[in-house]
This record gives sequence, C-alpha cells and structure tokens, in this order.
Amino acid sequence: MPAQILDGKSIAQEIREGIKKEVIELKEKHGVVPGLVTILVGENPASVSYVTAKQRTAHELGFYSVQENLPENVSEDELLKLIDKHNRDEKIHGILVQLPLPKHINERKVLYAIDPRKDVDGFHPVNVGKLVIGEPCFIPCTPYGIMILLAKTGVPVDGAEVVVIGRSNIVGKPIANLLMQKRKPVGNATVTVCHTGTKDIASHSRRADILIVAAGVPKFVTADMVKEGAVVIDVGVNRIGTTPDGKAKLCGDVDFDAVKEKASFITPVPGGVGPMTITMLMKNTLESAKAWAGLPSEVA
Ligand code: GUN
Repeated sequence: MPAQILDGKSIAQEIREGIKKEVIELKEKHGVVPGLVTILVGENPASVSYVTAKQRTAHELGFYSVQENLPENVSEDELLKLIDKHNRDEKIHGILVQLPLPKHINERKVLYAIDPRKDVDGFHPVNVGKLVIGEPCFIPCTPYGIMILLAKTGVPVDGAEVVVIGRSNIVGKPIANLLMQKRKPVGNATVTVCHTGTKDIASHSRRADILIVAAGVPKFVTADMVKEGAVVIDVGVNRIGTTPDGKAKLCGDVDFDAVKEKASFITPVPGGVGPMTITMLMKNTLESAKAWAGLPSEVA
C-alpha cells in the first residue's frame, strides 16, 4: 500500500491558527506583540526566498516584524553592530541571521553575538547545550518541525530504530539528540547518525523504522535503502531547475515516487518539512515574547 503523505503544509497551517489566536490574546491581556527580525546578507536566491517566507508568515500572524538586508560585502563589524542593536531593542524577541553567510564573515562569531534569550533559531551554544542536557530552550526549527510531524503519524517512537542521514548543526545533530532523549510523546528512540564517513549507509537505513534524511543530495535515498513500512522524513530542498512560470523546481533527498510505495508515511518536497520549519520559528518567537514578559513559556 502506498505511504500516507505527511502534509506539512496543512499541519503547519493548523499550528499557525493557534499561534494567531495566542498573539491576539497576548496583545489584549498583556500589551505584548512578538517581534522578529530577520537579517539577510547578500542575495543568495534560496536565502532570499526563505527570508521572504519567514517575513510573510510573521506578518500574517500579527507579529512585529523587521527585515534587514545587508549587502554581500558588508563588514563583520557592521553585522555585529546590527545584532547588538536588536539585542537591546525591547520590541524584538527573536533574531534570525539567515545562513550561509559570505566567506569573509565568521559565522561562529555572529551566532555567538545573538542574545541566547532571542536566539529563536536555537543555534547559540547556550541553547545547543541546554538542548543536549534536556533543559527548556529554543529547539532549532527544522528538528522541532520534524518532532511534530512524527507525533502526527501516531507511530511509536519509543524504542524505535531511527536513522538520521546527515550530521549538520542545523538538522542532523539536534534531531538525533532530541530523539534519543526520554521525551514524551516523541523520544526514547535508538538513534544512528550516518554521514559522509559512513561505510555502507544502506545497511543502516534499511534497519530504520524512522528514516530522517538531511544529506543535501537530490534523490540520495532510493527504494532499496528503505525498510517496508518505514516513516520517511525528507529534509532536502534541492533546486533542480526552473518551472515555466519562473519558480524554482525543487526535489528532496529521497526518491519520492519510488520510496512512497514502500514507506508507511512520507513527507513531500515541497510541502513537507519546509512549512513546519517556518512555523516553528514563529512558535519560538511567540514563546520568547512570553518569556521576556515574565509569563509561563516553553523556552524558559
Ligand atoms: N539556513 C538554512 N536553514 C536555516 C535555518 O533554519 N536558520 C537560518 N538562520 N539559516 C538557515
């Protein structure tokens, strides 16, 4: 039987409706409006489209949102000064610097400069450390979205064999950490992380009850690499051309058409993990605003 499609777009929409209501309530009861700044350096087409989508969503949800566009040749110092300005701005509860940054800018220095209490991406070492030891923190948006998608399947994660392909700081490392923790309802799994140094990835992926693919290679996972009935989460966003109306043509890291015949659940690209990532950024910003207002929050 073909897999059920995990429709990230509609799940994200449902969560957004909840956020929208909370934003109205937060404003009415406490006079607080969640504020998000997105900082874009240069004009990388993928980054431009991600940041535009983040801004559009923030606006739709009633956030105070600011877009900062800096030229490709901006100095590291200028970028750090801009971050400092937003660190001190009371109206801003979330700061996002879109990655990757141009080569002349030290990414580590930039991520360290963001106040960890406004680090809605969850990339600052304070949040990374808290995540690893299981303390409340900003969970990076893509892994956070994946956790919600897994919960939606109803498939037990407790005791499941999870294989993650990819060890990035943004996806692979945090999702592996989260899924091995004794978290409910999604956690307590046995997690294997595969990467470019792994000798025989298929020998691992074939054991997976849940396969999470963030390899950055179009159609990397083929049907023969997937166990019958596995849950397959495709994090890949690969631009493989342009549609006749000028939009980017995307494909994932999974050979969707073949793998959907074997999996129990599968995420499409686009419309799977992507919309969840943006939505969890909004959730983190909302929770940050609550924490700054001294209200109960999931991140503090
Ligand atoms: N580049 C690709 N994914 C992300 C993300 O989740 N956050 C930021 N800031 N940059 C990215």
